Amino acid sequence: MTKKQIVLTGDRPTGPLHLGHYVGSLRSRVELQDSCLQFVMIADMQALTDYAKEPQRVRDSVLQVALDYLAVGIDPEKTVIFLQSLIPALSELTMYYLNLVTWNRLKHNPTVKQEIKQKGFGESVPAGFMTYPVSQAADITAFKANLVPVGEDQRPMIEQTNEIVRSFNRIYETDVLVEAEARIPKIARLPGIDGQAKMSKSLNNAIYLSDDLDQVSKKVKKMYTDPSHLRVEDPGKVEGNPVFDYLDAFDTNIEKVQELKDHYQRGGLGDSVVKKYLLEVLIEFLEPIQKRRTEFENDPAAVLEIVRKGTERANEVASQTLADVRRAMHLNYYE
Ligand code: TRP
Repeated sequence: MTKKQIVLTGDRPTGPLHLGHYVGSLRSRVELQDSCLQFVMIADMQALTDYAKEPQRVRDSVLQVALDYLAVGIDPEKTVIFLQSLIPALSELTMYYLNLVTWNRLKHNPTVKQEIKQKGFGESVPAGFMTYPVSQAADITAFKANLVPVGEDQRPMIEQTNEIVRSFNRIYETDVLVEAEARIPKIARLPGIDGQAKMSKSLNNAIYLSDDLDQVSKKVKKMYTDPSHLRVEDPGKVEGNPVFDYLDAFDTNIEKVQELKDHYQRGGLGDSVVKKYLLEVLIEFLEPIQKRRTEFENDPAAVLEIVRKGTERANEVASQTLADVRRAMHLNYYE
C-alpha cells in the first residue's frame, strides 16, 4: 500500500494572484486536494522578507490571496488553509535548521540569487531574505509534506529543503523529517503579456485572477506577439509568442489550438483574430472563478473564519513535529 501523500504549498501575500500562479501551482492544488492531505499556507512571514517596510500591503494581501484560493476552488473542507505567522513552530524550526546550512550555500541558491537581482537589493539584502529558503524548509517539514506542487522557479527550494532533512536526520540520528518531492506541472511557467519569460507582479506584466473583463480585454489587446508578423498574410512565429503559450495553458480544445498555430505559421491569420479567441478562452476560464470570488468577497468574516480554523489545525500538526524535532535534538528537558 502506498502511503497517503501529504502536500504543502504556499504563496507570499504581496498582491493578488495571477494566471502564472494558477498554471504553476494553483491548478495542481485543486487536483491534489481530493486524494491527498493538503496544507496551503499564506506565507505572510516570507512576504515580510522583502516587504518589511510595507506591513499594510502584506496585511491587505492576505485576504486577497485567501479569496483567490477559494475562488479557484481550493475547498476548505478538503484543504487546510492557514497563516504562516500564526504558527510559532515554524520560526523555532527555522532557528534550528539555520545551524545546518552554510552561508555559502545560501548565497548560491539560484532562486535567491535571481530574486536579489530582480528586486535590485544590491548589497543591501535583508538577512531574512537570504535565509528564507531555510524558513521554507521549516514550512515543508513541519507538516511532513512529501509532495510540494510549485512552479519551476521553486525547484531549488525543495532541493535545499531535502539537504536540510538529510543533514538533520543524519546528525540527530532520527527519521522524524521527511524528504519532499517537487511536483512541477508540464506547463509550469507563463510568460508575461509583454513577452518576458515570467509573469510577475513586479514586472507589471500580469493578468490577475481578479481582473475584470475590461482589464483582461485591454491586457490581451496589448499583448506582445511575433514582432515580425506585420501583415496578416506574413507567416508568424508561435514559439516565444505568449498568445499561444496562454492558449496552450488554458484552452482545453487542443486540436483547435494546433489548427490556429498551423494557420499562424503558414500566414493568413491576424494577431487580432487569435487574440479575440484567446480572450474568449480566458473569459470562459475566469467566469466561474470570479463568480465564486464575489460570493466570498461579500462575506469577509467567513473567509477569516476559514483561515482561523485552518490555522488551528495547522498548529496542532506543526507543534507535534516540533516536539519530535526537539526530542531528536536532546532538547526535551522535561520529558
Ligand atoms: N516561496 C514561495 C513563493 O515564492 C512561497 C512559499 C513559502 C512556499 N513557503 C513555501 C511554497 C513552502 C511552497 C512550499 O511564493
